[in-house]
Amino acid sequence: MEKITVIGAGNVGATCANIIAQKDLAREVILLDIKKGLAEGKALDVWQTSSIQNFNTRVVGVTDDYLKTQGSGIIIVTSGIPRQPDMSRDDLIKINTGIVKDVIERAIKYSPDAIIIIVSNPLDVMTYAAYKTAKKQSNRIFGMAGILDAGRYKAFLAESLNISPKDIQALLMGGHGDTMIPLPRYTSVNGIPVTQFLDETELSKIVERTKNGGGELVGLMGTSAWYAPGASAAKMVKAIVNDERRIFPVCALLNGEYGLNDIYIGVPVMLGKNGIERIIEIELNKKEEKMLKESADSVRSVMEKLDKMNIL
Ligand code: NAI
Ligand code: 2OP
Repeated sequence: MEKITVIGAGNVGATCANIIAQKDLAREVILLDIKKGLAEGKALDVWQTSSIQNFNTRVVGVTDDYLKTQGSGIIIVTSGIPRQPDMSRDDLIKINTGIVKDVIERAIKYSPDAIIIIVSNPLDVMTYAAYKTAKKQSNRIFGMAGILDAGRYKAFLAESLNISPKDIQALLMGGHGDTMIPLPRYTSVNGIPVTQFLDETELSKIVERTKNGGGELVGLMGTSAWYAPGASAAKMVKAIVNDERRIFPVCALLNGEYGLNDIYIGVPVMLGKNGIERIIEIELNKKEEKMLKESADSVRSVMEKLDKMNIL
C-alpha cells in the first residue's frame, strides 16, 4: 500500500506504526499527533531501526498536519485519553468523542476512500461515533478490540496448559468491556476442544481474567496497555493490505445479524482488501445469546448517553 496514517503517536499509535513498518505493509507511514514534536520524534526513532530491522517503509511524523496524510489507504485512529486506574471506559466518552469526531472529519477530507480502524476508547461507541461522523459504508469503518481480547484469552490458556499459544484457536464476541464474551465452546487446541484439557472451573477463571484483561494491566502500570493493542491493530492492517481474508473478531456495525440493529459490537468477520468482506453469524446457544444481548444492552446504554450529549 502507498500510504497508511496512524493518528495519535502515543503508546498504542507508535507501537502500531512500528509494527506496520517492520512488516513493510506500506511505502510510507504517517504518524500524526497534536503534541508538538512527539510524532516527529517517535517516527524518526522507528525510521532509524529500518536498517537494523530490515524494512523499507518510510516513517514520517507530523504535528496536526493532515495534508501530509493525503491519499492514505488506511487510517488508524488511536488519539484520545487513555483510561486511568480510577476511570471507567465510559468516563472517557465525552473527551474522546470530541477528539475522534475532529480527527475523522479532518482525515477524510484528504483521504476520502480510506478504510478506517478505530482504537480509541470506549471502543464500540467511539467506532459508532466515527461511523456517524465519516458517513462511510460500514464495511470500511470498524474497530479493533476482539483480536486484543482474544489474544489475552489465548495467552492465559497457553500459560495454563503450558503449550504454544500458536496452537490455540479461540473466538470472543461482544463489546470491549466487562461484558465481552470469550467462547469456550468455540475454543480449541488445534481442533481438540479446550474442554478436553481444562475443567469448567479452570476455564471460567481464565474467562474472568480475560474480561478484566485491560483492567489488570491498568492496575499494574497505572495506564493502559500498548504492545498487544498496537499489534492487534497492525494485524488488521496486514489482513487488509494483503487481502488475506482472515477471520477475526472485529467491532462491526450490525444490521440484523444476531438479531441486533444499528449497533457496533464485536463479532467474527472476514477481513480483506475491502475491509469487512463479510460478517459471520455463528450459532449461539441460549446462554451465549443471552450474554450477547447483555453486552449489546451495555454498549447501547453508552450509545444513548453519547446521543444525549448532542456532540455528533
Ligand atoms: P496515549 O495517551 O499514549 O496516546 C494518545 C495520543 O493521542 C497522545 O499522544 C495525544 O497527544 C494524542 N491526541 C490527543 N488528542 C489528539 C488529537 N485531537 N489529534 C491527534 N492526536 C491526539 O494513549 P494510548 O495508550 O496510546 O491509548 C490511545 C487510545 O486507545 C485510548 O483511548 C485508549 O483507551 C485506547 N485503547 C484501546 C484499546 C482497544 O482495545 N481498542 C486498547 C488500548 C488502548
Ligand atoms: C485495554 O483493553 C484499556 O481498552 C484498553 O487494554
